[in-house]
Amino acid sequence: MKPHANFNFIARPYRWLEYLTLGGRLERCRLHFLPHLRDQKKALVLGDGDGRFLAELMAAAPDIHADAIDSSSAMLRLLRRRCASRTLDAAARLETHHIDALAFRPVGPYDLIVTHFFLDCLDEPSLDALVIRIRRSLAPGALWVVSDFRIPSGPMRLPALILVRGLYLAFRILTGLRTNRLPNHAEALSEAGLVRTACHPSFSGMLITELWQLQT
Ligand SMILES: C[S@@+](CC[C@H](N)C(=O)[O-])C[C@H]1O[C@@H](n2cnc3c(N)ncnc32)[C@H](O)[C@@H]1O
Repeated sequence: MKPHANFNFIARPYRWLEYLTLGGRLERCRLHFLPHLRDQKKALVLGDGDGRFLAELMAAAPDIHADAIDSSSAMLRLLRRRCASRTLDAAARLETHHIDALAFRPVGPYDLIVTHFFLDCLDEPSLDALVIRIRRSLAPGALWVVSDFRIPSGPMRLPALILVRGLYLAFRILTGLRTNRLPNHAEALSEAGLVRTACHPSFSGMLITELWQLQT
């Protein structure tokens, strides 16, 4: 397992760095499956950063309670503030955990797991271990939303390799992230008994957002 990165330094400018480099593309990925999540009751949200997705989820799913995990205290501060300003009762429905996701002991049962642009911070053994641990705390039929970068085949393969390399280099410099290749989340989720029920590629196949479901 590689030591985890520190995103405190880039927590505030993170949103603007994202818009400057990739425009609204990541935001569209995060929100793509939101209409499918309105009936969920208990979410585990891993590495949501400044909370842009979680704030929208709490507004869209009025009965949901969420555990938000992040190793960056600055990100969690922004997340709490954003959720509170978006939804009146957010504080009562949200618990934040300042901890490495790999050390967190999930209790559950969760009917929703959210990992937007988070699994790519992990190397493959860490991702496998995380999925196995979370699997035990899933409710029957639980959903898992994943958004991530992707290396497509065909003419966009080289541009995607350059983009992903560049992003990993930037995160290494800014946060100390040691991971340098996209892990295979599909294999880990499939082995844990989840099935991909929907998939939305964008940005010429270089971005993907997927909905997975635990088979009962
Ligand atoms: C690349 S940012 C993604 C933020 C957001 N989910 C998004 O869609 O842009 C990764 C987030 O995960 C957190 N993070 C990275 N590694 C982590 C770990 N091992 N445990 C917990 N949080 C972690 C970072 O602090 C940051 O908030």
